[in-house]
Amino acid sequence: MTTKRFYVFSEQDESEILKAGEILRNGGIVAIPTETVYGLAANAHDESAIRRVFEAKGRPQDNPLIVHISCLEEIEGIVEDFPDSAKMLAGKFWPGPFTMILKRSDRIPASVSAGLDTVAVRMPADPIARAIIKAAGVPLAAPSANLSGSPSPTSAARTLEDMDGRVDGVVVSHDCEIGVESTVISLVGEKPRLLRPGAVTLEQLKEILPDIEVDKAVLRQPDLGAPVASPGMKYKHYAPKTDIYLVEGNSDQFISYLNSMKTSEPFAALCFEEEANQLDCKTVVLGSEFSKESEAKTLFEALRKIDEIGVLKAFAHAPEKSGVGLAVYNRLIRAAGFKVIQL
Ligand code: TXA
Ligand code: MG
Repeated sequence: MTTKRFYVFSEQDESEILKAGEILRNGGIVAIPTETVYGLAANAHDESAIRRVFEAKGRPQDNPLIVHISCLEEIEGIVEDFPDSAKMLAGKFWPGPFTMILKRSDRIPASVSAGLDTVAVRMPADPIARAIIKAAGVPLAAPSANLSGSPSPTSAARTLEDMDGRVDGVVVSHDCEIGVESTVISLVGEKPRLLRPGAVTLEQLKEILPDIEVDKAVLRQPDLGAPVASPGMKYKHYAPKTDIYLVEGNSDQFISYLNSMKTSEPFAALCFEEEANQLDCKTVVLGSEFSKESEAKTLFEALRKIDEIGVLKAFAHAPEKSGVGLAVYNRLIRAAGFKVIQL
């Protein structure tokens, strides 16, 4: 399949946006930028387009998709009801990197939600993403635009690396501002529950939802065969081919641990920029120790780079778990297959 490129660098690039929208409306699948990561979009009402998204990604059939809207009116026909708590959260965090799980309307095919009676909904902040949804004239189901199992793409180049030849189009646009996928919370249980941390932080959510629970899959490996609230959390995710270990400790400990390592096989460090020139091994920088936002923004690119520098093993310095750091930690511990070294 030939994948068309649509070059869009502002929401004023109307003719390209309209072309991408038309393909989407007619059942095609197109990768689009958002403020979090690139998404692989399809008309959320079109079952055959949804099937193609699962195929293009090689995604397990039991992992549900997020439906994206461009304005609040579009929520009608996606969810069965929109409770006051959801309205309040939408008022605070939409548009933005925030996804709510609510009861699914039967106008959304079950396959979008992998058969669940719930549906995940998000209104992205990226004006280009919203302009594409508007141009399509339909809500867009969009998982991250990576091949299933690899790190989510945060640039058009990485999106093309995974999707060229597998999808109808790629909207070639800016690098993603945030770099980790949206915060996902469920509002269908007794208490609100954080399923996936993101740039809307747990601290922010606790101010509004003091009784919010954190799903145990956020920081721990789900037990084999146990039911998980968010199916995406049980899969081996964000996984580079390089064998990653997550190392907990301060900078001095991390540096002396790696610099005194006696091994004949070359290894690399996924480290903060302040540490790079003090390390004797190859390094890939994971933002600054002093900016969790910079860590989030570079994370997925760093996980792809680590596979390109010719090492079999890498040690990642664990970020702090507060703010958006919780999201970075959540992705890294998965990339490491839950292997943690405590210094
Ligand atoms: O930032 C994002 O959310 C990006 C961009 C493209 O918007 N999208 C994204 O989609 O990360 P995806 O498919 O890679 O991740 C969706 C996550 C998965 O962990 C999935 O299991 C969970 O949301 N999810 C979706 N619908 C759900 C539902 N009904 N119940 C529980 N979990 C759900
Ligand atoms: Mg994904």
